Amino acid sequence: MLKKILLYTVVVVLLAIVSVFIYVSLTWDKKYDDWPAPALQSSTDSTVIARGRYLVTGPAHCVSCHVSTIQEMEDSDKGLPIPLKGGIGLPMGPLGKIFARNLTPDKNTGIGRYTDEQVFRMMRHGIRPDGTASMPLLMPFWKMADDDLIAVVSYLRSMEPVENNVPANDWTFVGKAVRSLTSTFKPIENPDAPKVAPPMAPPSIARGEYLARNVTNCIACHTPRDITTFEATGPEFSGGMEFEPWPALSKHFDIDTTLWVRAPNITPDPGGVLAKFKTPDDFIKRFRLGRAIPISPMDWGPFSRISDEDLTSIWMFLNNLKPVEHEVGDIIFKKEGE
Ligand code: HEC
Ligand code: HEC
Repeated sequence: MLKKILLYTVVVVLLAIVSVFIYVSLTWDKKYDDWPAPALQSSTDSTVIARGRYLVTGPAHCVSCHVSTIQEMEDSDKGLPIPLKGGIGLPMGPLGKIFARNLTPDKNTGIGRYTDEQVFRMMRHGIRPDGTASMPLLMPFWKMADDDLIAVVSYLRSMEPVENNVPANDWTFVGKAVRSLTSTFKPIENPDAPKVAPPMAPPSIARGEYLARNVTNCIACHTPRDITTFEATGPEFSGGMEFEPWPALSKHFDIDTTLWVRAPNITPDPGGVLAKFKTPDDFIKRFRLGRAIPISPMDWGPFSRISDEDLTSIWMFLNNLKPVEHEVGDIIFKKEGE
């Protein structure tokens, strides 16, 4: 009898494993081709392109990721005009490796291959041009206003085409399972984006909020989050999210590869880092200095190129938040036992 029960249990467990395996194999690269694309069109107007250039190289920081190597990341952060030809592989822990794509208008390997519909759908819904779901949290720009998004794509289309064939992403079975079974790799259903962005001048809390939430993404890193699901685990902007070491990056800067970095509290609590900047001018001065910590994940280079007005708006918005008392601890630290 006992033997029979054991055998039965083993069969049930095996069946369950086989079904998960089959389910994941069939669904990990599910296509969302039938999703409607936003009705937006890129433009060749030079004012629109100039606005796009400001966003791509500044507040929207596309230049931080869409390059080929860590050396190019460093150069791009410093403001050198590195072509956005993609290729760098971003490590995703046990999930595998994801490659930043070629954003130049090259017809064979860049966005010259894609229609406006395909590119805008990627930005709004996190659906890749080939119809598979991306990881929207990687590029959380889905609420960027229509006019800003049009400017961004118009600028990309105006760049010099560069041929660079970026390899396909490299998913492990765990990565494929996470793609199939969790919400991390699902398209954004109702982005509910505004038609026009709040104007840059005069600075306003509304403009600061729009940027901090949807363009500069201060909210993504400065909110405490679970580092596997990226779900918020505490109040917005209160800091404490921990960034795992990226050994290749640390090695590039000759820095201990076991060091972690933590985002500070940027609510107007006297114990938070915002208290260091009493006036918009203090805040602007800090941003103009750019990167202080080489391995910080913060996009200091592009952010050092944000206009005075926009930095003032962000400062106004942050200072208007409810202060949250949250002692985050050391900004650079080692994990116990590493
Ligand atoms: C944090 C790094 C990061 C930032 C910042 C970033 N991207 Fe990406 N982008 C990626 C990665 C990685 C992929 C590949 C995603 C995938 O395979 O699911 C990608 C894919 C894309 C694609 C799809 C292209 C293709 O061939 O599949 C477009 C379009 C794109 N990004 C545009 C932008 C724009 C525009 C910005 C700035 C507003 C931006 N990205 C900012 C990392 C980034
Ligand atoms: C990709 C993640 C990321 C993004 C996006 C990000 N930050 Fe940070 N930020 C960090 C981390 C990590 C640190 C701590 C390391 C450092 O100082 O660079 C930090 C540090 C800071 C500091 C302290 C600087 C100092 O000199 O002590 C301020 C202020 C700040 N961030 C504000 C912002 C604002 C405002 C935005 C949006 C415009 C933003 N951050 C976007 C991750 C991020």
